[in-house]
Amino acid sequence: MELVTGDITAERVDAIVNAANSQLLGGGGVDGAIHRAGGGAILAACRELRRTSLPDGLPTGDAVETTAGLLEARWVIHTVGPVYPGTDAAGELERRRALLERAYRSSLGLAAALGAGSVAVPAVSAGIYGWPVDDVARVALGVAAAADASAAPPLVRFVLFSESVSRAFERAAREGGIPAHAV
Ligand code: APR
Repeated sequence: MELVTGDITAERVDAIVNAANSQLLGGGGVDGAIHRAGGGAILAACRELRRTSLPDGLPTGDAVETTAGLLEARWVIHTVGPVYPGTDAAGELERRRALLERAYRSSLGLAAALGAGSVAVPAVSAGIYGWPVDDVARVALGVAAAADASAAPPLVRFVLFSESVSRAFERAAREGGIPAHAV
């Protein structure tokens, strides 16, 4: 497991995970970056999914693959993280945290099922969706550390967009005794 600070669209891996929204038709953040760098083929594939297998969009916590278009990857794996609820009204925080775990688990599991040897993963939900970065780091690394060979590719690389997010992941790896090294 690796921790890298950088732009996920520059990664040369088999699969790149996208922090999408349920509509699957693009957005800001890493979603915008992937569609911009990957080109129209990714959006066309997303539109086809909406027309066929995902008429109501991609449910939070699920993952689906498309072509990676012009990116140096074979697939983009789109997943939808939960929006941070801000309060713990009626256990909403725990319910959504389970969805955050599911989003990472679904993405890594799909990458493994596709036969990817390597996957780049962003800090899903830690941006526009407002989830506290320290908690995202704990959830993401915990899911990756618990994944066996059938649940994640041999190389899982978390690609963090800023030093502060990288530090949060390094701290979570250290505190969790998780063998993830910053490269
Ligand atoms: N490479 C790697 N990480 C990136 C990049 C990039 N090019 N751009 C942004 N990030 C980081 C953000 O800094 C944040 O740490 O990805 C993390 C996730 O942030 P968002 O992309 O905002 O994703 P999320 O918080 O899951 O919100 C999803 O935002 O972009 C829209 O369409 C998307 O509605 C959806 C929502």
